[in-house]
Amino acid sequence: MCGIVGVLGDHEAAPILVEALKRLEYRGYDSAGIATVNKGALDRRRAVGKLVNLSDLLVHEPLPGKSGIGHTRWATHGAPTVSNAHPHRAGSVAVVHNGIVENYRDLRAELAEHGIEFQTETDTETVALLAEHFLRSGLDPVAAANRAIDRLEGAFALAFLFDGEEDLIVAARKGSPLAIGHGDGEMFVGSDAIALAPLTDRITYLEEGDRAVLTRTSLEIRDAQGELANREMRKIATDRTRADKEGHKHFMAKEIAEQPTVIAEAIRAYLPSGSDEVRLPGEGLDFGQVDRLTMVACGTAYFACLTAKYWFEQLARIPVEVDIASEFRYREPPIPDRTVALFVSQSGETADTLAALRYCEGKADKIVSVVNVPESSIARESQLALEIHAGVEIGVASTKAFTCQLSVLLMLALKAAQDRGTLTPEQIADHLSALRGLPALLNAALDQEDAIRTAAQKLSEARDVLFLGRGAMYPLAHEGALKLKEISYIHAEAYASGELKHGPIALIDKHMPVVVMAPRDALFDKSISNMQEVMARKGKVLLISDDDGIAEAQDGVWSTVRMPHAHPSLTPILYAVPAQLLAYHTAVAKGTDVDQPRNLAKSVTVE
Ligand code: F6R
Repeated sequence: MCGIVGVLGDHEAAPILVEALKRLEYRGYDSAGIATVNKGALDRRRAVGKLVNLSDLLVHEPLPGKSGIGHTRWATHGAPTVSNAHPHRAGSVAVVHNGIVENYRDLRAELAEHGIEFQTETDTETVALLAEHFLRSGLDPVAAANRAIDRLEGAFALAFLFDGEEDLIVAARKGSPLAIGHGDGEMFVGSDAIALAPLTDRITYLEEGDRAVLTRTSLEIRDAQGELANREMRKIATDRTRADKEGHKHFMAKEIAEQPTVIAEAIRAYLPSGSDEVRLPGEGLDFGQVDRLTMVACGTAYFACLTAKYWFEQLARIPVEVDIASEFRYREPPIPDRTVALFVSQSGETADTLAALRYCEGKADKIVSVVNVPESSIARESQLALEIHAGVEIGVASTKAFTCQLSVLLMLALKAAQDRGTLTPEQIADHLSALRGLPALLNAALDQEDAIRTAAQKLSEARDVLFLGRGAMYPLAHEGALKLKEISYIHAEAYASGELKHGPIALIDKHMPVVVMAPRDALFDKSISNMQEVMARKGKVLLISDDDGIAEAQDGVWSTVRMPHAHPSLTPILYAVPAQLLAYHTAVAKGTDVDQPRNLAKSVTVE
């Protein structure tokens, strides 16, 4: 989603702002802009498309000044045009905004009554016009910005800059994250610590409802009630903000390759070496006291939950409901006693997942989250936040976060089996020992990249692709289809293999590749039958399986990808690798923008 930066610095602001915006590119955007104050005069530059267009514009029309704000916009209200791009300006006020002002129509009507005219259709222009209106009524810049913020409904992060004020930025957070960076005689604002990483590692995260007044030498934060608030300044470790491709062509390729390392770290965090049981931080969670689990998430994280349902139900005999956050939050589902509500989110800021969590507050016995960003809103609002240790994920299409989510959820399911006595100590030990071997298996899966690249070349010519899976491989079929859609723009759908003949088989002809993810497990014979049904209708089967599975599949298979043998509970994690690589190499073959696919945003902080 949109990215915000701000600087009250010692050097020219424009290059610093553009550089910081580059570090926010991963969030997804379709226009960008900056504003500065130079010798008291406020001015701005904006461009549609990639940041290089803004940089080109700045070469021809430089923007001097050591104070400034900048923005990458992911269009919500109004098309991605220069006039809709941020910063929005009204008289002496420039503003950048992430989120949605829900009551902007009412506010526009009110402003129109004062004879105020609008240049754009955006909700953000309303914020600038409101602040300018209050400035004209005699308030000083801080009071005018605050009065404007008071009137806003919805979710937002905001930064204001004012004509005539070289040493002032006003910032606010409600629903969308915002971080303040402390320099030496300089002060910064950013949507996250990654944006500010080269500038400072000393960060203060604003809390929900906070407003901040920044000068080069001071920071005053007030909470939602207007009281002075003392927010902790943290030193952020560089590995939490490093955004470097490290020799890979794309962040997505780097993040796929990193999986053995980050998953090893995730496993160590909950299963220290030598330990024969899964350990949770803090007070932990006693699954002996739990009757039911409600899991809620969006997108890839939702498919991680669907996979985990198989583990929790089969290993720990706990009934699990899994829901898409945007549906759950408005359905008002009853939450029975002894229910744990579990929210999975890489960013920890997804608006729908956060709203679903808030719905469960006071209803569920415990609110637990599985997150990649421990200082995120979802982590902070949970009673127990389990970090997945994936490290920064820059590629818009989630890869390593998915497999780290799965690894943590599998450990949680094993902890549940331990607490509930549904597996014997020997069975638990068998699972844990298999889990410790997962990083080596992931390396073996990555070794299949050449075969996958060859299969992807063929797949890149398809218009539609079906993904099939059975058991815990069924949610992975969905994840494989999602990855392919997101970055190669090929239409892909997933079905449980057994559903094929209940409708989708009508789609099968010689043009339809069907990716079957089927390790040689207890359900394999059924998958073979489904493959035969596809091949009998000239469908092209791409089988991802192990040696035994490929040997049994007989002739007629279009293409194969060979996976190492693995413990059944690990296959949904292991087979994610070929699913990701297949999407990646198909996208590369098609020449799409792999790390920033069209229309997508990394952290979806609006509904
Ligand atoms: C897909 C993808 C999205 C996210 C979804 C939830 O590759 O990344 O589907 O999984 O937007 O995001 P988080 O996990 O941040 O809540």
